[in-house]
Amino acid sequence: MNSINNRSEAGNTFKARTHRNNENIKKIGVFTSGGDAPGMNACVRAVVRTSIYSGIEVVGIRHGYQGMIDKNFIHMDARSVCHIIQQGGTILKTARCVDFKTKEGRAFAFKNIKDAGIDALVAIGGDGTFTGAELLSREFDIPIIGIPGTIDNDLFGTDYTIGYDTATNTVIEAIDKIRDTAASHDRLFFVEVMGRDSGCIALHAGIAGGAEAILLPEKDTAIDELIAKLEEGATSNKTSSIVIIAEGEKNGGAYNIARRVKDKFGFYDIKVTILGHLQRGGSPTSFDRVLASRLGYAAVKALIAGESRKMVGIQANKVCLTDIEEAINNHSIKLEDDLLVMMDVLSI
Ligand code: F6P
Repeated sequence: MNSINNRSEAGNTFKARTHRNNENIKKIGVFTSGGDAPGMNACVRAVVRTSIYSGIEVVGIRHGYQGMIDKNFIHMDARSVCHIIQQGGTILKTARCVDFKTKEGRAFAFKNIKDAGIDALVAIGGDGTFTGAELLSREFDIPIIGIPGTIDNDLFGTDYTIGYDTATNTVIEAIDKIRDTAASHDRLFFVEVMGRDSGCIALHAGIAGGAEAILLPEKDTAIDELIAKLEEGATSNKTSSIVIIAEGEKNGGAYNIARRVKDKFGFYDIKVTILGHLQRGGSPTSFDRVLASRLGYAAVKALIAGESRKMVGIQANKVCLTDIEEAINNHSIKLEDDLLVMMDVLSI
């Protein structure tokens, strides 16, 4: 097993300073999986340091579930996670692993985990990550705690997922810049943001960026209604407009919608911007760093307390636990309809 850096093992010389309820847990494996999200590193740091503080060894599993299959394990100590709280991406790397979707793949992964002496896992990711964690834990009886790390903010049981705040702020910055050029040229822009199944980023960034309309995967929007809204603006002296489209919206993406609008609506010169993966990168906001630290700390505490197959989340600013199954099954439930109604009023 490699050490994640070449520094001394001094980081592991901390004496356990807390009482541990679950004496069976001597070594925790931590991994990030699925789409990366700003704040994942701050979360890994919290998991590593809380474990070591509690007298538990930590193994980093690189490339998520793929790393379990490939035995891509690294020893981590308190100094392995120095100066990462401000970094975007994930030092543990991430992947979407096809082999892990089969029972044979999971059995092989579990054997490798056991051979490495890992007694419990902390999984940082979104619904796909949690689905794998739930299966592995159920089939092989290994304790697992999930931490919601995804820019999509689409998990039930937490008001926010790690990375969502940073991604939304990145989008707002882009919208503000697009607004400058849209206003200068009297143009209509269609801006596509991430969110295959979740409209959270689109809705919140759209409101914060003063968008004229927001199209979401969770809602059907008729193109004629969109055109009527844009026409209303144009005839009441709006000289430019911005429409935010979530990637998974049912009308087929920003280019398709722009083409359909262009066919019927002649007021503006129309342009399209797809923001893409820049929304996933960047230094996490202070909100995401604090959230990631709280949830990483709470995940280790939950394992020590004997919990398993739970997701740690935050609700009304309190850390709480939800069954992983429930968190996955109620996916996307939290889109606030009242915000859409408000947006319609504020964008006249
Ligand atoms: O789940 C996070 C997310 O960024 C989604 O918003 C997006 O649909 C998807 O990941 C893109 O995944 P990939 O990077 O694998 O193309």
